[in-house]
Amino acid sequence: MISNRRTVLSAALAAVITLSVPSAFAAKPLVIGFSQVGAESEWRTANTVSIKDAAKKEGITLKFADAQQKQENQVKAIRSFIAQRVDVIAFSPVVESGWDTVLREAKRANIPVILTDRAVNVSDPSLYVSFLGSDFVEEGRRAGRWLVERQKKTPDVALNIVELQGTVGSAPALDRKKGFEEIIAGNAKLKVIRSQTGDFTRAKGKEVMEAFLKAEGKKINVLYAHNDDMAIGAIQAIEEAGLKPGKDILVISIDGVKGAFEAMIAGKLNVTVECNPLLGPQLMQIAKDVVAKKPVPKRVVTQEGVFPAEVAAKEFPNRKY
Ligand code: AHR
Repeated sequence: MISNRRTVLSAALAAVITLSVPSAFAAKPLVIGFSQVGAESEWRTANTVSIKDAAKKEGITLKFADAQQKQENQVKAIRSFIAQRVDVIAFSPVVESGWDTVLREAKRANIPVILTDRAVNVSDPSLYVSFLGSDFVEEGRRAGRWLVERQKKTPDVALNIVELQGTVGSAPALDRKKGFEEIIAGNAKLKVIRSQTGDFTRAKGKEVMEAFLKAEGKKINVLYAHNDDMAIGAIQAIEEAGLKPGKDILVISIDGVKGAFEAMIAGKLNVTVECNPLLGPQLMQIAKDVVAKKPVPKRVVTQEGVFPAEVAAKEFPNRKY
């Protein structure tokens, strides 16, 4: 009886000690430093939510920094993550070039770097372990292919295109331009007459479209916007100019956010090429694998579709962002 009581007492004591003294072997939560581009678009908001939610779900500590679309803020954030000795650095680079120095600093500190959403242009590919995101050139091609097909309905009519580019020097702006141009290149009836940056925002999209309309007026037949937000801003400018977006001017854009589906249902946007922002769960998995020293793919391409206005109403209830 006495010995039984003793066993119970010592078990209770052991439990108290275990709970109050942190064990050297207790699993430390993984710490990721993440530098986000900013909050420039509906897409970006969905991307941020996806990353924060996925980290929470996995019990990962996320140190989140918003770069407000400035590369210098991202460089500062990465240096601060290095100083804090985070386990993994992840970031979505505002622009493609100018990363060699800071990424070398991360490598020297033995902190793996994962790129999400956008690529970097570096001389040494070992400066990052993995790149997770869309194929932006293919997105541009998809936009171009839709227009080439549409043009076949009126083969004798030449179409003048205005292009709203994304942030200057960013991977999606460079690649979406390239992919689109590649597809329309052989078609003498399709011509880009103006192309300017709208920095991926609604406000700039509207402002630049107003300038296009002022300069070219009714000569404009097609708007190709590198994202939905700029297209939505431009749609407002087209309406204010007394024209019908989606009819007088065909509107093509990229992302597939809910706002674009609403514009398509209203007959103001003709097609959106999907770019999936829900990268959080895959990013957390790659980060966990890297820390566990498991092999990770150098490139993970997001799977995406194309949504013309004809399917918008049916697809809308399925949209997650
Ligand atoms: O890098 C992805 C792009 O950035 C999205 O198309 C755009 O909406 C965002 O701002």
